[in-house]
Amino acid sequence: MESLAIITSGGDAPGMNAAIRAIVLSCHAKGIKCIGFYHGYNGLIEDECLTLTPEMVRPILQYGGTILKSARCPQMHTDDGVKNVAKTLKRHKVDSLVVIGGDGSFRGMMALQSYWSGRLIGVPATIDNDLACTDSTIGFSTAVSTATHAIDKIRDTANAFERVFIVEVMGRHSGHIAFNVGLATAAESILSFENCPSSSLEQVKLSLIEQIQTQQKNNHTSFVIVLAENLWPGGAQGLKQTLNDTANIESAVCVLGYIQRGGSPCPEDRILATELGIEAVEAAYSESGVMIGKEQGKLIRRCIIAATEQKKPVDQAIHSVYQTLT
Ligand code: F6P
Repeated sequence: MESLAIITSGGDAPGMNAAIRAIVLSCHAKGIKCIGFYHGYNGLIEDECLTLTPEMVRPILQYGGTILKSARCPQMHTDDGVKNVAKTLKRHKVDSLVVIGGDGSFRGMMALQSYWSGRLIGVPATIDNDLACTDSTIGFSTAVSTATHAIDKIRDTANAFERVFIVEVMGRHSGHIAFNVGLATAAESILSFENCPSSSLEQVKLSLIEQIQTQQKNNHTSFVIVLAENLWPGGAQGLKQTLNDTANIESAVCVLGYIQRGGSPCPEDRILATELGIEAVEAAYSESGVMIGKEQGKLIRRCIIAATEQKKPVDQAIHSVYQTLT
């Protein structure tokens, strides 16, 4: 292998820079030219790139975001877009492309397989943790930690004002962030896809109201609901309105939003990103269409189809702990 390219694609995740650093240093040690393309697949379409050197990546491990920038790329849903990516890779004589991103980015890799014969390796990075074949994705631990610290602060004001708070967290369509953050902050209620299927929202509403009213009677001072984004019609504001209209319960809303994607990666994400990055370069010598993951302490290589098409359930142990406590 003489030349390897990297992109960071989709929602940025803390630890992407650490993965870039590991890949570049690893390539340098093996005498492989390492090219970074900017703005995800868009940079491959527009041919926006630079040769990455160890000097450029040594000081980046502790920073959130990505030095290569990131973007979503609607053109990857068209044959022309995918062909243009393949053309750029051929023009630069790239042997292997490492895609650091989430499931949408990996679907782009699958599309590219039809037009490019180089090797494609995925490194899972998304705060949502919604990829199978890895216990954790890069950025997830940091996002959980950021949201936990934010809710600890909200709890102070919730206690002081004896308020009900609805805190909406990210996760797209999965509840890994909601459940982990809910447990870490002793939230009185966690509402997510896994425990609130859309057909049961009426029942969820009634039991939530009962739970709040019981707790208020018993003089508990605050009630924090951790709500997964995209679950409740109208989001956190919609749930606030429902509680008010149905039971005259007042609540305050906080949508944590993008603060969960930013900030310095926690040590777990720095280490995970470094391990996955180094293993990605090893895999790029002989494999293609695989994602590097880590399960039960072991680095693994799995077909990207398996990683994206299976849904990773929220850890059963976490789910059970929550059920035991409510
Ligand atoms: O996939 C990461 C994520 O932050 C999701 O949690 C969220 O639903 C989505 O990206 C937001 O995407 P955008 O940056 O396009 O608004």
